[in-house]
Amino acid sequence: MRGLLDRLKNFIIYDADVEFYAKVFPDSVGRKELMRLRKMNRSDLAQVVAIEKACGDFPWGEDIFRDCLNTRYDCWVCELADTVLGYGIMSMAVGEAHILNLCVAPTEQKQGIGRKLLEHLIGIANREAEQMFLEVRLSNTRAITLYDSIGFNEIGVRKGYYEAANGREDALMFALALFKD
Ligand SMILES: CC(C)(COP(=O)(O)OP(=O)(O)OC[C@H]1O[C@@H](n2cnc3c(N)ncnc32)[C@H](O)[C@@H]1OP(=O)(O)O)[C@@H](O)C(=O)NCCC(=O)NCCS
Repeated sequence: MRGLLDRLKNFIIYDADVEFYAKVFPDSVGRKELMRLRKMNRSDLAQVVAIEKACGDFPWGEDIFRDCLNTRYDCWVCELADTVLGYGIMSMAVGEAHILNLCVAPTEQKQGIGRKLLEHLIGIANREAEQMFLEVRLSNTRAITLYDSIGFNEIGVRKGYYEAANGREDALMFALALFKD
């Protein structure tokens, strides 16, 4: 409990400091330092759905994001001021965590946001799960490079798992061994 309070205190104080310096000495704080992760809520859904649509041909609808919130999955956004830049969604059950969605707005990609969100979800899963799983389109080399670099191992293929422009596309399945805190 004490450890949790300390972590919370450090996070709040750090966040307040950065925002204070950004207001008083705007040049002293970089854009990246002002990005923060927080839990997704219903008022984020319009921005989240817009990013989802911008990122792929087969986007989740708002109803799916709403279900994820209602089911109390781990739904997180990365935001700058009041703008959502990306989000990640994870389910957890019986020692297994599953990344259900990870997405960064096209204009905000390649700045470390996807990695930051995924590492954050891994940190949460570490407390309760032994393994993390995810699926990714065979053609999604960006995401595959990210998962490889974090240490995920390819464990199989789900044939025709995804809708695709010319029929169906295979999914690669990845797993990451976690270490309970
Ligand atoms: C996959 C995705 C989440 C990565 O987010 P991102 O914020 O751009 O990624 P980061 O900047 O954190 O980069 C992390 C790593 O991903 C890989 N990567 C990201 N963009 C890449 C690109 N354009 N080409 C090759 N590798 C890339 C690199 O390994 C990178 O590490 P590095 O910067 O140390 O080289 C993002 O491209 C995205 O939202 N894509 C559309 C949705 C999607 O495909 N989601 C995954 C579904 S399984």
